[in-house]
Amino acid sequence: MKKNRFILGIQCFATMDSGACIIKTSNRANEYNYVAISEERLIRKKHPYTFPFHSIKYCMEHFNIKSFDDIDLVVSDIIREPVWHRSGPSYNVKDFDYFKTLLRLPQKKIIQINHHLAHAASVYYTSGFKNSAILIVDGNGTDLETNSFYEGKGNKISLIDKYKGRGIGVLYGVITKDCLNLGRGGEGKTMGLAPFGSKEKAILDFSKVNYNGIKTDYSNILRRMPFSDIITFSGGKKIKKLNIHLPKRSKRSDILKGKWKQYAYDIQNETEKCFIHLGKELKKKVNSENICIAGGVALNSVANQKLFSNTKFKNIFVYPACSDAGIPFGLCIWALYNHQLFKNKKRKIVKLKNAYTGKIYEDNKIKSILKKYNISHEKLDLKKVAKFISDGKIIGWFQNGSEYGPRALGNRSILADSRNSKMQDIVNIKVKHRETFRPFAPAVLEEDYKKFFKLNQPSPYMLLVAKVLKPKILPSVTHVDGTARVQTVNRKQNKIFYNLIKEFKKITGIGCILNTSFNDAGEPIVETPQDAIIGMLNSKIDYLVLGSYVINAKKIKRSFKRKIIKDRSQRIKLNEKKAMLSLTNKFNLNSKKKYFKKQIELAYWNTLEKPYFTLTNQIKKWIGLNKKILLFGTYDQTYLLLKSIKKFKDLNIEGFLPYKHFNDEINNKDKKKLPFKKLHKLQNKLSKNCEILITSYEFSYDIEREITKNHSNFKYFKYYNGYSRNLSNYFNFKKS
Ligand SMILES: [Fe+2]
Repeated sequence: MKKNRFILGIQCFATMDSGACIIKTSNRANEYNYVAISEERLIRKKHPYTFPFHSIKYCMEHFNIKSFDDIDLVVSDIIREPVWHRSGPSYNVKDFDYFKTLLRLPQKKIIQINHHLAHAASVYYTSGFKNSAILIVDGNGTDLETNSFYEGKGNKISLIDKYKGRGIGVLYGVITKDCLNLGRGGEGKTMGLAPFGSKEKAILDFSKVNYNGIKTDYSNILRRMPFSDIITFSGGKKIKKLNIHLPKRSKRSDILKGKWKQYAYDIQNETEKCFIHLGKELKKKVNSENICIAGGVALNSVANQKLFSNTKFKNIFVYPACSDAGIPFGLCIWALYNHQLFKNKKRKIVKLKNAYTGKIYEDNKIKSILKKYNISHEKLDLKKVAKFISDGKIIGWFQNGSEYGPRALGNRSILADSRNSKMQDIVNIKVKHRETFRPFAPAVLEEDYKKFFKLNQPSPYMLLVAKVLKPKILPSVTHVDGTARVQTVNRKQNKIFYNLIKEFKKITGIGCILNTSFNDAGEPIVETPQDAIIGMLNSKIDYLVLGSYVINAKKIKRSFKRKIIKDRSQRIKLNEKKAMLSLTNKFNLNSKKKYFKKQIELAYWNTLEKPYFTLTNQIKKWIGLNKKILLFGTYDQTYLLLKSIKKFKDLNIEGFLPYKHFNDEINNKDKKKLPFKKLHKLQNKLSKNCEILITSYEFSYDIEREITKNHSNFKYFKYYNGYSRNLSNYFNFKKS
């Protein structure tokens, strides 16, 4: 019998957070080991959307796995539909998808699970809790899922409820990118900007937002997803995201001037309200003292904290890689606890020890790099480094394996003096080359955190925010609203980092330093020693600590800069070549062209034509059966069907029930005249003979939810799904 077993986790769709994870487990033992990494760190490009060849190779090499033959199971997620070979039926086809068709991986080894379930598994199975309520709030998951409630009990995770179509995560992203112009993935910047606004000056009106259980209905502001498909990618008609008009900041316009900071305040404030509501609703449904949170919106540490302090949960756990970067691990750990290949009755839920999932670069490897580029260095002396920090020097700090997720937690960090009021500007401008309003986090000794912060429990992953009790002592890590995103550090979690802060305390009396991620603006966090050296050469870092060595940036010759950058890009290219050679079958350009041509045609069909054919086929069937039909939808969409589909009027229509909004176009208050009896509610006595046709694009998910929750005895039919365009687009397309 095989001694060790391996699970590989990779996302199924081209995502900006692509990466890989491998869990190693044995048949007998209860324990497991793992390695996980995001692709961007290895190819040095933020938000790459490329197939994670580098990450898979990195994880396989870590466990000395030579080929896919040695991997027992590959776990992936589902975005629009459970199809492995496509990112999604309406997506712009990418190399990412084509490479999947070439992998030397038998289909029987691959399983796909719900995207939010992977988030839930990542946080619950590492929480150390025996039971917990689990909240997932995300941009979108499987079939446009945005909010999900789960319950964890023992080794089992069960779904309680889910809400689809539109949510706070997407709205936050739209305001960040399309109004504040802070880019894709710039939500953290919006959160940093928010405290510069104020409650009294609110611009955005959220008074009509309807909270009801898990439902957080932003339909008066936000349109339903999806917002991108093959048509938008190829420069065709863009999809309207908002029902309100918002201006877009020009890059030259100062974000701290005018209304911009207020927009950030308003959306942040609404997110906090939404989180508190969801927390309270979840508490009603799950009888547990514990709450686990994951999904991209859980990176909003302020909202996490607000939820925790306004609900009756006694313990909170937020997974450090709670955005999609953590999905590969979530996929693997779900399989470890649930798949028959690995199920082990004795398996317990083990509390996450730390977030350092990257591989370790040993001192001898670092030494050989320093020798290769003739970089002068000294042996590390923590006392000296602590003294440098207390003297106002900036330290690049590289130790052991890299952190999983966007926060640097003392292995790939830039460190500085928390007591120096000028340090925030110096690090922002000279080292990280970014906006001056961005705050920095404190790394504080776990035994001291209560002295400085109003916080009830340790925060080892920097995902909780607290009021700073002594802001005058810690000016460079206190944000404008008097709070900080705290990292507590203990010896078990990170011995050398803990000892460094301890040495700093011996000198200054303060067991707290400034800790920010080791990367330049627009760059991923450094992964290798070479990345760290290049990071030092590109910024005003004073000293670089690499494992057991210290480099004085002022004392080294910089003539090797071009060479080390060139060497790195050559190594990345070579790694990709090697990975493709060992993991994929050969391809020729002709077969690639054919694949793309076919997939592009399919994507157009799925996006535009599929709803029409699905509906007209069903209409034909119903007419043949003389089925009684109830229309449940909006005036404008129902009118569109009546006007544009010949056979529609031949249906045996019992009546029309308008959804609470008159029209799909929410700002249009006109009621079209419809020749059907208007219903005021669904009468269950009709249900035996009738079937419901959902006649709305904008509210199809909301209506479906209403039927399944309150009228489950009705059969219903919908012709839209998570990747369709509205039929009006199809009819316009045909006309043109
Ligand atoms: Fe997600």
